[in-house]
Amino acid sequence: MLDTLPPQSPDALLALIKLYAADERSDKIDLGVGVYRTNEGETPVFAAIKQAEAKLVAEQNSKSYLGPEGDLGFVHALMPYIFGKDATKGGRIEGMQTPGGTGAVRLAVAVAQKAGVTAVHMGVPSWPNHAQILNDIGLETRTFGHSHDDGTAHLDNVLGAIRTAQAGEAVLLHGCCHNPTGIDYTNDQWDQISAAFADSPALPILDSAYQGLGQGMEEDAYGVRTVLSAVPEALVAYSCDKNFGMYRDRVGALYVMAQNADALPPILSNLNALARASWSMPPDHGAAAVRLILRDDDMTQIWLEELAAMRTRMRDVRGQLAAAGDVGTLDLRPLGQQHGLFSVLPLSKDQIQALRDDHAIYMAGSGRINIAGLHVGNIEKFIGALEVVTAQ
Ligand SMILES: Cc1ncc(COP(=O)(O)O)c(C=O)c1O
Repeated sequence: MLDTLPPQSPDALLALIKLYAADERSDKIDLGVGVYRTNEGETPVFAAIKQAEAKLVAEQNSKSYLGPEGDLGFVHALMPYIFGKDATKGGRIEGMQTPGGTGAVRLAVAVAQKAGVTAVHMGVPSWPNHAQILNDIGLETRTFGHSHDDGTAHLDNVLGAIRTAQAGEAVLLHGCCHNPTGIDYTNDQWDQISAAFADSPALPILDSAYQGLGQGMEEDAYGVRTVLSAVPEALVAYSCDKNFGMYRDRVGALYVMAQNADALPPILSNLNALARASWSMPPDHGAAAVRLILRDDDMTQIWLEELAAMRTRMRDVRGQLAAAGDVGTLDLRPLGQQHGLFSVLPLSKDQIQALRDDHAIYMAGSGRINIAGLHVGNIEKFIGALEVVTAQ
């Protein structure tokens, strides 16, 4: 039977990684993969994580099962960072650990479906896995354009989606550092989005995978907090894989805000059942390390400083690109106003191919670039190559 399965198209980004690895040109530039890189092009383990891991090895005395909800100490330690001072909203918010932000998004969509959601509105372009998860779970995807050509968010489109959404529908939004465009809503726009949600029966699903990589831990939480203050219930998918550099350790959490504290336990029991039937329990190591950091003031300080250094470096790179202004047919100024790891350049397929063939510059076919793939040693070459390929 298995040989009747139709082959699936390979993941384009994974294919790009292979092509990049096989390229022998010494000045090649990888703008494809979605991980942070230092000025030296490395993706090191955070010093705070190293300390926490040492402590974990020394102190952990059992690897016995935890349960589908994972490490609740980790889940709770994160909450003030995501939700602010009244982190549980009077006992209305609770969460569970998931295998990365991907597991959290999947669990959010699955529980929404169980609650009667049949369609999800989302802006495009988006992280490709959003559509893949919705499709796999069997929810209808309704799309709206996320941004204007000038590099700003298309507020009317998102407001329209929220206002027209019916009961039984959800609206999926990126919390901050939009992947792939880097185009976030301003605080004023979040206020309007929250007001629209307040008048809509739609369920908000907020995906926060990059808190702290945009403007700051507090600043990047504005959207999530504002929406949650306006609605009776919501789901928040969270990833620590970028802001703690834990990518392969799969550290995430799904939070649910219920109408009232009494409504929480049945929802959580559904989340538990869904998790049990899929991954059973999330991997412990990364979440335990994050918990140790967040429960220790010194380690927390080290982590926040490391995160700030990442953020500053990416803002510097954005500043340098924006300062280049008009490059060939491109206007790089909007990149200075965008946030996080990614932005999209309006390049044609041929231009993206020419960047790869003639200049050893690798980026996704969508024109998405990883800002952190650029540094003092290669940014001039990149800007020069853009000038050449857009002039052709
Ligand atoms: C928008 C968005 N959500 C969720 C995730 C999930 O991240 P992870 O599963 O690596 O924690 C990502 C990762 O690229 C993302 O870009």
